[in-house]
Amino acid sequence: MATDHPEPAAPPVGPFIFRILDTKSQEPQAAHAQSTFYRNLDEALDLRRSSSNFYSVVENTWDADGITDFYSGDMLGLGKSDVRRAEFLAELGRFPDFTVGPTGARVIDGTYSYLKKSELEIASFHGAEHGMLMSSAFEANVAVWTAVPRPGDVILYDALVHASTREGIKQSLAIDKVEFPHNSVDGFRRVLGDIFASNRLVREAKRTVLVAVESIYSMDGDVCPLQELLEVADEFSRGQGNVQFVVDEAHSLGVIGPKGAGLVCELGLQKEIAIVVHSYGKALGAVGGFVLASTSIRDMMANFARSIIYSTSPSFPFVAAIKSGYKLLRDGHTEEAQERIQHLVRFFFETLTSHSVWPAAQQMGLLLVPLAKDWEERPFLTHIIPIFTRQKYNWWLFFHILDSNFCTFPMEHPIVPLGQRRIRAVLHAYNTEDEVRKFVNAIFTWVEEMVSIENGSSEYAVPHAARRVYAWMAQEKLTGFGKP
Ligand SMILES: Cc1ncc(COP(=O)(O)O)c(C=O)c1O
Repeated sequence: MATDHPEPAAPPVGPFIFRILDTKSQEPQAAHAQSTFYRNLDEALDLRRSSSNFYSVVENTWDADGITDFYSGDMLGLGKSDVRRAEFLAELGRFPDFTVGPTGARVIDGTYSYLKKSELEIASFHGAEHGMLMSSAFEANVAVWTAVPRPGDVILYDALVHASTREGIKQSLAIDKVEFPHNSVDGFRRVLGDIFASNRLVREAKRTVLVAVESIYSMDGDVCPLQELLEVADEFSRGQGNVQFVVDEAHSLGVIGPKGAGLVCELGLQKEIAIVVHSYGKALGAVGGFVLASTSIRDMMANFARSIIYSTSPSFPFVAAIKSGYKLLRDGHTEEAQERIQHLVRFFFETLTSHSVWPAAQQMGLLLVPLAKDWEERPFLTHIIPIFTRQKYNWWLFFHILDSNFCTFPMEHPIVPLGQRRIRAVLHAYNTEDEVRKFVNAIFTWVEEMVSIENGSSEYAVPHAARRVYAWMAQEKLTGFGKP
């Protein structure tokens, strides 16, 4: 195989390049150069940089001209919609005398009437007794897990739950915290069985097993087998209520269920699930988190979650942004977008699996899309599609996708487990069939290029888009990102 000829060192296409540029080691500022404090910080950052997983605070990449967004969390397209903005402004307009700042913490006179009414309205939309608004779903998860489990309770969590749930679990009063294999009903039965066998207090229903799951997993895009997990829980608890579920619906609001109310509503399990957490930073086009629960769980959080007790309440404009989003869901305004996502994801799988190169791509391990397996048999599809290639090729595939003007995101450890880096694509209601077709074709063009590299018929060892990036990186004295 011939060695690679350097390409002209023009910066590659796409604003992702600013992320790569940001990994350049910073020259210490004169004032900081002598200080151990800053040197230690720089050392920690340099270590991070060397892993090609440096988190850059740069402008977003999906909104750039000429780029097709297969990345942002704005699944329904509400984030930038005129109707959404008008609804928000109309809600503000209905309360011309609103107080901008809430002036207190929830439990110390910061709970104003509009906030209380909005919480009840949201809870009722989801068929729950009560609920509590928080500044984010991250905070909501931490509040739930620090406040609800009592000493002696056991926490049983899916291996892929979100960092916020892990953070809450870490801080919780429960001592026994056990993982079960991701989305495995058999694994759940085995681990729950071990807990019941070894823990007399749980067996005698004097303590509770609290189960943490997500309706749609953020990196894998698969759906929790919630009904089956509940059935297994019932085999052990036999109606004693000593296995309770907490479901994080961050990725399903607006996308699944009647009027986008989520998986729990889709399955009609509102009465079975103790706690549901929603995020407003994705499909609803706002920001914030919500915990749907009974009054006693709400009161537990108000009394034991430090971020609620010691922090200012959500402000009026913040609540209005969320409430106006719910109005669109309730009025059925988003149902067409919800159906369109289903259509586009179906179209993606059809186009992918009917491509002539698909069987060979899988056979050679150059392309793996776990959700493409049996996709026709699932009752509904999800908008998150992880795309795998061989681990060492992940950046090369990403550069090719970027060079084809599609914005996805290359997911690296620690966001995904070691050895499971992947490209994460998200389909939105505003994407088109043509964009999806071109995206799939771009992926297969790369696969064909890799086939010719691997079978020696190419004169190169690195595919075209990656060569361009690496030539530019060499000029900028940058390393990493899969550079051989
Ligand atoms: C499953 C899950 N839960 C919670 C969160 C946190 O949501 P928020 O952005 O509202 O803090 C996220 C964010 O990505 C998530 O994916």
